[in-house]
Amino acid sequence: MPEARITIDPAFQIGEVDPRLFGSFVEHLGRCVYTGIYEPDHPTADKSGFRGDVAALVAELDTPIIRYPGGNFVSGYRWEDGVGSRDQRPQRLDLAWKSLESNQVGTDDFCGWARGVGSEPMLAVNLGTRGVEAAASLVEYCNHPFGTYWSDLRRRNGAADPHGVRVWCLGNEMDGPWQIGHKTADEYGRLATEAAKAMRLVDPSIELVACGSSGPQMSTFGDWEATVLQHCYDQVDYVSVHSYYEERDGDRGSFLACATQMDRFIEAVVSTVDFVRAKGRYPKRVDLSFDEWNVWYHSREPERDRWDRAPRLLENSYSVVDAVVVGNLMISLLRHADRVRIGCIAQLVNVIAPILTEPGGPAWRQTSFYPFALTSRHGRGTALRIVQDGPSYETADFGRVPVVDAAAVAGGGGEVTIFAVNRDQHSTVPLDVDLRGYPALRVAGHTSLGGTDPEATNTLSAQQRVVPRGHDPIAVSDGHLRTELPPLSWNMLRVRAS
Ligand code: AHR
Repeated sequence: MPEARITIDPAFQIGEVDPRLFGSFVEHLGRCVYTGIYEPDHPTADKSGFRGDVAALVAELDTPIIRYPGGNFVSGYRWEDGVGSRDQRPQRLDLAWKSLESNQVGTDDFCGWARGVGSEPMLAVNLGTRGVEAAASLVEYCNHPFGTYWSDLRRRNGAADPHGVRVWCLGNEMDGPWQIGHKTADEYGRLATEAAKAMRLVDPSIELVACGSSGPQMSTFGDWEATVLQHCYDQVDYVSVHSYYEERDGDRGSFLACATQMDRFIEAVVSTVDFVRAKGRYPKRVDLSFDEWNVWYHSREPERDRWDRAPRLLENSYSVVDAVVVGNLMISLLRHADRVRIGCIAQLVNVIAPILTEPGGPAWRQTSFYPFALTSRHGRGTALRIVQDGPSYETADFGRVPVVDAAAVAGGGGEVTIFAVNRDQHSTVPLDVDLRGYPALRVAGHTSLGGTDPEATNTLSAQQRVVPRGHDPIAVSDGHLRTELPPLSWNMLRVRAS
């Protein structure tokens, strides 16, 4: 296999990585909330009913912002059902996921839990079945200090201080025909504008996310963003981007390169946003909130016909291949750190998630946990524009793509971290990193996740089958770091002064 070459120079900067790029997502869906983060009878539960073992893993995942409560769920949600005394909260039909919603977890519970695991809450308002009044009331409930109906209700419910929720999503995937209260772009654009106005009148410091397309495959993609933003550009700070990936028809080569699709999707949405900005002569720049992304074996979901509480839904078990793809998707996000300010892996626990749990039993890390946690921990600082060259291969979905895909981040302490995947399923790739712009950096640490069995997963009975492997330190000589990337692997190289 020919060598892959990367050149890194501190002068070539993409921009500061917003830590919120490493966000996550908790939806009332399946067992994400119930028996996921919350299980009052669990041996590790705290006094509010949240699982301590899960909270510890979430803290280790290092996810600074968590979106809640949906997702499709939010488009039929009455937030008032989830506050106040738990024994008074109504059980409802959750039409989005054909489940029974007990409302034992709601806004106050979630905000308190999120702060406890070191994250800020990012809340979505219901613009499916509800509208301006319910959205503005929720902002008042969460963020107004005291002395009004909603803020005093929050205080009576036990939250003396405001939750201080900074980022708000104006609905969820309103372009999708599956969405409860689905709208045309003009209908949604008008509603989002008016909801945003009222929410900002309550709290001018909030940041707002308008719904973009639910994916690049939508027939309305492009027109949706342009039309919606022509209504609400001045009222919002971000447009949302959602995309999920899975291996189809055994085409692993294309699946391993699906970060190419993420790159193209981001760049297409940036172009559309900037078109609206240019047309409207707006001085303000709107950025992207990639607030749902992950590997999701969507096409394998069975049909359901029962109303259950916390059913096992979307509980995908992730392999080594999936973990390499997740690591590569994070490389794509870092490459676009100048315009993607918020990113949320969807979701956090049990539902297409890096963490799995058993009711009454343990919680453990999926394969994808590791690239996420390590990129979140070491991918903060300034994203660097790298020059990359080396072997490539042909894919059915994206044409020719590089075998090695990489991103680099310069940290505040003077170190540089390189994230790289080797998409070749059989061969080790020699890697040469030209670090001539960093004469003081001399030693590199190499961590990789891969292994001989691409299908290996972490399960209840084998929770640590797939874990990252640390290699011996590598000397950097003549300004070059030379190492090898194992077949089908995600890698992190950290270069520092000796
Ligand atoms: O994350 C699962 C679902 O995917 C979300 O509820 C929805 O927004 C998206 O279609």
